[in-house]
Amino acid sequence: MNLSKNNNDLIIGIIGLGYVGLPLAIEFGKKFKTIGFDIKKERIKNLSLSIDTTSEVNEVNFKKAKYLKFSNNSYDLINCNIYIITVPTPIYNNKKPDLRYIKKASVIVGKFLKKNDIVIYESTVYPGLTEEVCVPILINESNLKYNKDFFCGYSPERINPGDKKYNLKNIIKVVAGSNKSTTIKIKNLYNSIISAGIFVAKDIKTAEAAKVIENTQRDINIALVNEIALICKKLGIKSKDVFEAASTKWNFLNFKPGIVGGHCIGVDPYYLTHKANLVGFNPKMILSGRALNDSMPKYIFREIKKIMLKKNIIIKNSKVLILGLTFKENCNDVRNTKVFEIGNHFIKSGAKINYYDPWVSKKDLNNLNKKRLINIIPNNYYDCIIIAVSHNEFKKYSLKSLKKMCKKNNVIYDIKNFLKDNKVDGQL
Ligand SMILES: NC(=O)c1ccc[n+]([C@@H]2O[C@H](COP(=O)([O-])OP(=O)(O)OC[C@H]3O[C@@H](n4cnc5c(N)ncnc54)[C@H](O)[C@@H]3O)[C@@H](O)[C@H]2O)c1
Repeated sequence: MNLSKNNNDLIIGIIGLGYVGLPLAIEFGKKFKTIGFDIKKERIKNLSLSIDTTSEVNEVNFKKAKYLKFSNNSYDLINCNIYIITVPTPIYNNKKPDLRYIKKASVIVGKFLKKNDIVIYESTVYPGLTEEVCVPILINESNLKYNKDFFCGYSPERINPGDKKYNLKNIIKVVAGSNKSTTIKIKNLYNSIISAGIFVAKDIKTAEAAKVIENTQRDINIALVNEIALICKKLGIKSKDVFEAASTKWNFLNFKPGIVGGHCIGVDPYYLTHKANLVGFNPKMILSGRALNDSMPKYIFREIKKIMLKKNIIIKNSKVLILGLTFKENCNDVRNTKVFEIGNHFIKSGAKINYYDPWVSKKDLNNLNKKRLINIIPNNYYDCIIIAVSHNEFKKYSLKSLKKMCKKNNVIYDIKNFLKDNKVDGQL
């Protein structure tokens, strides 16, 4: 496969144009004929107008991607010879992998597979999933032979939405192919858009495992600092002060306590534990970390409730403002955000909740939460303010300015240890 710019035969199909798929389609679309396909009509309509509601791609880059076409019609994928699948891999309520999207995408691609085509999976999966679950679907739909007629690869995405420093191009890309020559082709393909370099993993299963353990490691480390924060509370010392002192050692890892939401760190470990169970291993530490991180919203609610009661503020009918709704700072993604869990504990106790988040628009919220989202914060109004997300926009707030938004007797709780002022009523 010739990867030169003028190669008219090479057509790349990107299946799923979300946080991961769109930046990829844009970069490939600057160099090669690329079809960006998504099942959501609204998404394709917006992208065709250079509007990216995920805020990952700006107008300049849309313009630069001259060879990229967006489509809602899967038949537009028919002439592609490289298919890259970037669809969601969430979990069900029972924490088991929900493989419906990746299976459906494999069915779509399988129908168009031709001899010598390559299918690369970028969705986060458990080790083995590509070849054990997806390849059989591709074989079944195409009637072609794996590693003879068509080939596969895996290349995990490592972007961090909202991160302006690390992006698709400057993060080393891990790749693996189903055989040696496919691996080289995939390596060359990504090399054409990634400046940070390519790491070739031993095989597809190894590349799949590498991705899922990156986020599992992060989850466990956050669980550890969360546990330390809970111990510090019992000891009557501030975790923030303890971490500050400990971090002066060169090899102390700089993780911060907090709530873990989103669709990666709180989800991916369950893919690994699911597969571990399938092969007869019961992972205790990973699940214990998950359980601890999942318990943080309730813990935080109870903490704040205690402080409110100490100050004789009755929760029922109290007015509570939560600053920040997204699952992490400086991005607009509210999927799987744990901030709602904190809000819901207050709502169940009869409090009146307002959310304020300059990154979030009402259309991303359900009807009840739409009403709770405010644009202007009133003064002298709240009994309690909680800083839940450390958006850059909140840097302007001080303890004093937050107190102005509150009634005389109030509680300010800083989950993110964001405020410099030590007089804040509570921090993790
Ligand atoms: N968002 C991140 O920060 C991030 C980082 C690394 C890896 N990942 C992984 O990448 C994958 C994609 O994540 P995302 O955040 O981009 O998801 P997303 O929800 O933002 O986007 C996925 C897109 O796929 C589309 N889609 C679903 N099924 C489809 C189908 N059959 N055909 C075509 N389009 C389809 C959806 O409409 C959606 O627009 C997941 O496995 C995720 O775990 C995400």
